[in-house]
Amino acid sequence: MTHGFDADYWEDHWREVGARDGHRQAPANPYLATGTEGLVPGTALDAGCGEGAEAIWLAEHGWRVTAADISAEVLARATERAAASPAADRIDWRPADLGTWEPVGAFDLVTTHYAHPAMPQLAFYERIAAWVAPGGTLLVVGHLQDPGGDHGHGHGHGHDAGHGAEDDQPPAHATVTAASVVGCLDPDAWEVVSAEERSRTMEGREAPLHDVVVRARRRTSHGAAAS
Ligand SMILES: C[S@@+](CC[C@H](N)C(=O)[O-])C[C@H]1O[C@@H](n2cnc3c(N)ncnc32)[C@H](O)[C@@H]1O
Repeated sequence: MTHGFDADYWEDHWREVGARDGHRQAPANPYLATGTEGLVPGTALDAGCGEGAEAIWLAEHGWRVTAADISAEVLARATERAAASPAADRIDWRPADLGTWEPVGAFDLVTTHYAHPAMPQLAFYERIAAWVAPGGTLLVVGHLQDPGGDHGHGHGHGHDAGHGAEDDQPPAHATVTAASVVGCLDPDAWEVVSAEERSRTMEGREAPLHDVVVRARRRTSHGAAAS
């Protein structure tokens, strides 16, 4: 079974998650802390922010965050969750279809964690990469493509806790490899800081998660990567 991953799909998805798990408070993705290590906080976009854990983490670490998602349901939940944070006023929760939305300006950091919209996955990464300011950072955390072809059950998202192992695989067309993400980045415009394929376990989830984590820095106009 495949899905269009349009607004209706995501709205239904988040209603189901809410009905099943209530207002869970999943922690921020661990690759966010390592992937932003050493950066001076500035403006950040969390593309497909979901329940807001990463946006809140960024705000609490000094970033001014635009947290965009296509689902009004999940943005309402994220806003409610953020209210308990002292950094709530550093987050702009933005209802947006990132396949068509255009930011007003570029960001010092653009990050995305497992967002898979209706458009092809790599085209989505290329699109959001264009919103990184010169000297800024792109941090992509995505679902790793299984070389054995074990993905494709079609309705799990890999990182949702509390499912059985087999049912919880991301659909194949939403998966990538580190090389394919790096391949989206013009080497004249980007310095790849790290590109890894990692596995981790997550509380409440039976199967390990297999992730792609790519951090890259947009070169400044004179060709050098900013420090
Ligand atoms: C699998 S969830 C990941 C959520 C969160 N980043 C996390 O790691 O828990 C993917 C998110 O991307 C959002 N999304 C999907 N397509 C989108 C689009 N075209 N524009 C904005 N957000 C989108 C979904 O609503 C959902 O919240």
